[in-house]
Order: sequence, then structure tokens, then C-alpha cells
Amino acid sequence: MPITIKSEREIELMTEAGRILGIVHKELEKALKPGMSTLDIDALGEEVIRSYGCEPSFLNYNGYPASICVSVNDEIVHGIPSAKHLIKEGDIVSLDAGVIYKGYHSDSAYTYIIGKVDKDTERLVNETRRALYEGIKVVKAGIKLNDVCSAIGKVAKENGFGVFECLTGHGVGRNLHEDPYIPNLSNHESEGIILKEGMTLAIEPMFSLGTKQVWLLEDEWGIVTRDGSPAAHFEHTILVTKDGYEILTGE
Ligand code: MF3
Ligand code: CO
Repeated sequence: MPITIKSEREIELMTEAGRILGIVHKELEKALKPGMSTLDIDALGEEVIRSYGCEPSFLNYNGYPASICVSVNDEIVHGIPSAKHLIKEGDIVSLDAGVIYKGYHSDSAYTYIIGKVDKDTERLVNETRRALYEGIKVVKAGIKLNDVCSAIGKVAKENGFGVFECLTGHGVGRNLHEDPYIPNLSNHESEGIILKEGMTLAIEPMFSLGTKQVWLLEDEWGIVTRDGSPAAHFEHTILVTKDGYEILTGE
């Protein structure tokens, strides 16, 4: 599929979808505490999303059963919330959410440290966040998509993190996942793609402290690191502009 260029009206709707998702994440961050279940997080997220007249992007997406992906420690993405899974001190918790506003999706994710973690895990979280902003910083009309991929991959390389080749960012708009796919490391395919004004992209570095190999859980959604090492994930939906970018999902 060709990469879609959004009209001015579509950009307005995506901006609102992003603004609301920023608020959803702020509410989730405030509520996140040891002792709460990952299902409590999902319930709150869905409530806030609906209170703004939006639909959760993820609920029923290819059969996904929840509104928020809650991925703890060695879970990289797509963790299914559960009443039995309680958050505890020393966890790292990735919250990934999307909202649909008048037919347009926004998508973003944050990883939070609960209490205290070891130095390496803290570095993993901080550097994965930094990789997202390093990737975003180079965005403007006319650059190669691979400039974004290599800026992200450089941070992983410097830190010796594992980069999962099968998990990528993506275009976003009328559909949650649109072309182009955005790998988190330098690659040949992204060399041939030039960014244009009006593209909207979900950039989402995901790194581990160990392996780049993944494992699919028995629920057929949760994706974990094969060696059990912790993983972090940060994501924003951005708009490509003539001279740079706008982050649509808030700071
Ligand atoms: N941000 C995640 C992604 O881009 C969203 C997963 S949606 C799900 O893959 F519904 F499939 F979980
Ligand atoms: Co995404």
C-alpha cells in the first residue's frame, strides 16, 4: 500500500486523537501503583478513552481482548491485562494505548519504573526513551526513513541492547497500522523511502537488556524476550512537516 499523506482536516483529527491519548497516558501514570492489577489499568484506560468520546484502538483489533497493552518486565509488547497479575515494586511496566477519534487512530507507549530497579534496568528504560527522541529529532520532509531507523538503532548499539527485528513502528491514520514499517535499526528497505509532509508515523523503539530473540506466550498475544531479560518500549505518533515534525501524542 502507498504511504498515505493526510489532508489538513485529517491532520486536525489526528491531532485531537493524539491530544486525548496524551491525557489517557497521564491518567494511567498517576494511577499506576504496586498492588493494582494489570486489568485495573486496562479498565481505567478504557474509561478515560470513552469519557472523551473515543474508542480504544486495540480492543478487538485482530481479536485483541483489551484496550491497553500492559507488558511487565520481560514482556515486550501486547501483554494481555489480567486480574491475577498484580504490579509490584521493582517491576518495569510498559503501557501501550491507542484511541480512535472520528475514524483516526493515535498510538503511543511509555515504560514506567515501579519503585527501585537495578542500574542496568534503569539505563534500559532511560535509553529506550532517549532512542525515541533521537529518532524523532531527525524527522523532516525530504529525509530517508532509514535516517530515523539508524538514529534509533545507534542508541541500542551504544548500550549493547537487543533490538527485535520483527517488532517495528508503522504509519498510522485511518488504520492503526499503515505503511511504512519502521524498524528500530538501520536497514536496506528504509533507505528507499523518503518522508513527505503530511505523513503520520508511530515511532516505537523496543529494546532488551539481553537477546533480540522473542517468544510468543500461550495466549498468542504477549511477546516476551526469549532469555527472560527485561524490555522497554516508548512510542509517539508524529506528523512530518516541511521543516521538522510535531509530536501528536504529547510530551
Ligand atoms: N502499539 C502497538 C503496535 O503498534 C499496538 C498493538 S495493538 C494490539 O503494535 F491490539 F494488537 F494489541
Ligand atoms: Co504502534
